Amino acid sequence: MIGVIGGSGLYEIDDIKVVDTVELSTPFGNPSDKYVIADVKGSKAVFLPRHGKGHKYPPHLINYRANIWGFRKLGVNKILSISAVGGINPVLKPGDFVIVEQFLDFTKSRPVSFYEGIFSKDDDTDYDDLVKEYMNTKRVVHIDVTSPFCSFMKKKLDTVLKDKGFSYVKNATYVTTEGPRLETAAEIKAFSLLGSDIVGMTLVPEVVLARELNIHFVALSVVTNPAAGIVGERLTSKEVVEMMHRKNQEIKQVLLDFIPNVTDNFDCSCEEVLLDAAI
Ligand code: HPA
Repeated sequence: MIGVIGGSGLYEIDDIKVVDTVELSTPFGNPSDKYVIADVKGSKAVFLPRHGKGHKYPPHLINYRANIWGFRKLGVNKILSISAVGGINPVLKPGDFVIVEQFLDFTKSRPVSFYEGIFSKDDDTDYDDLVKEYMNTKRVVHIDVTSPFCSFMKKKLDTVLKDKGFSYVKNATYVTTEGPRLETAAEIKAFSLLGSDIVGMTLVPEVVLARELNIHFVALSVVTNPAAGIVGERLTSKEVVEMMHRKNQEIKQVLLDFIPNVTDNFDCSCEEVLLDAAI
């Protein structure tokens, strides 16, 4: 089953029927909100608003581990993550979609792994897999993130965006900042020199944690504003929220096409990530 992480309200649409809502807890605490299980043209999907109901958690205080662990408990094996970003690469304009290819991690204070050696929690799921084995034996695990995103899901997303005729770019590098403050113009200049195309505050550790649980992961970003100093104007949360509202219909169209089309005949290497990864 597919999980969708994004803003709330994405499932409020005629062709998406809510089947159930599930409130759960995890060994890592509580997820941001209830999970909404929905039927999307005959395919089941689970939705979770990353920031919780009414946007109550700032990026650095989101319980990313609980959110991802909750998806595992519900049987999710692949995730589409939707987020707002600032555009650093001058080819990007507000409103563009971006398929993420790489990340840079400038976060500072977030729990980043499920595998914490002697501090590990017991696996509370029914699965019999390497995740359970590594957690229950309190192993230290170093996963490969050379290519952190699922190549199979990226291809599907590319096809959907192309077929819809939406303005998008792929192969982008997302720099993750700690937030919640926005960046200085000097930081954005430095991130640009390092090869960043877009900037946001949530992709890390979300993708890393999903990968640690063998979950395929793809990230779709929406450019809501030029990043700090790019056009020289002051940035506001208002413009971010307004652009996400404006893109809501297009995001829903992407979901309606993408979800029924991501079958489980993966041709990627995501499911090998835990092999020989533990010390
Ligand atoms: N910086 C960081 N995060 C963001 C931005 C930005 O400019 N826009 C939307 N999310």
